[in-house]
Amino acid sequence: MQLRFRTSAIEIKTPEEIELMREAGRLAADTLSKVDALIRPGVTTDEINEFVHQDTLAKGAVPAPLNYKGFPKSVCTSINEVVCHGIPSNRKLRDGDIINVDVTHKYKGFHGDTSVTFYVGTPSPEAVLVTEVARRSLELGIAEVRPGARIGDIGAAIQAFAHSHGCSVVRDFVGHGIGRTFHAEPQVSHAGRRGTGPRLRPGMTFTIEPMINLGDYRVRILEDEWTAVTVDGRLSAQFEHTILVTEDGHEILTARSGPLSNSDRFPDYFDKH
Ligand code: MF3
Ligand code: CO
Ligand code: CO
Repeated sequence: MQLRFRTSAIEIKTPEEIELMREAGRLAADTLSKVDALIRPGVTTDEINEFVHQDTLAKGAVPAPLNYKGFPKSVCTSINEVVCHGIPSNRKLRDGDIINVDVTHKYKGFHGDTSVTFYVGTPSPEAVLVTEVARRSLELGIAEVRPGARIGDIGAAIQAFAHSHGCSVVRDFVGHGIGRTFHAEPQVSHAGRRGTGPRLRPGMTFTIEPMINLGDYRVRILEDEWTAVTVDGRLSAQFEHTILVTEDGHEILTARSGPLSNSDRFPDYFDKH
């Protein structure tokens, strides 16, 4: 009897493709790092959009969100109870807001996708909790990535950590394979079971982008058909990196060169919480 194996739909990048993914990731991370200087009360999300749009083009890249399935802007800006896919507008940032800025560059045909949540002015204790849990959730998810591990290991690590801090994990949006295609296989759930799902192999590239809620994990979509908000109106935070599976672990293709003054403000948070 012949054993038959399902051929994986998950693309393995060539060394040449990986180098282009590195370049796309580096450029997206650089644009996102520069957004840090814009974050303050009074700035509109349209101004953030304009900056991201121009900085992307200046790098010889294209802002992948613009016109993607009809998305009208070049970046997603998701404030407070907005989980993801917030559309830039004349909404001004206010003291105490948290805002996720999600940048995706397409460069020489390849995508780099990364986001952070920024603090605007002085955050409430609840805002710091959900943001720091989201930040650490991404780090713990990334730490699972190595050849032979399973996709489900990522969600299992994130879910256990988020729940241990009384937060919930959004189910309706997931991380994704990425390359020439913005959203490809595999789906990377941020809640899951260890030992389940596809096995990770060197050369795979995908995002991890946990959306963490203070209350209910469920979301609803506004009339604009994009903006996802928490059903209970409580805060949500998110961080995202594009990751490469390497022979001995992983590489963060969208790593930043230094801390962000409006995001990396509580490096010792989990020493005390
Ligand atoms: N950057 C988002 C992600 O992480 C996708 C945005 S799609 C858009 O997958 F159309 F809303 F821009
Ligand atoms: Co993504
Ligand atoms: Co993104």
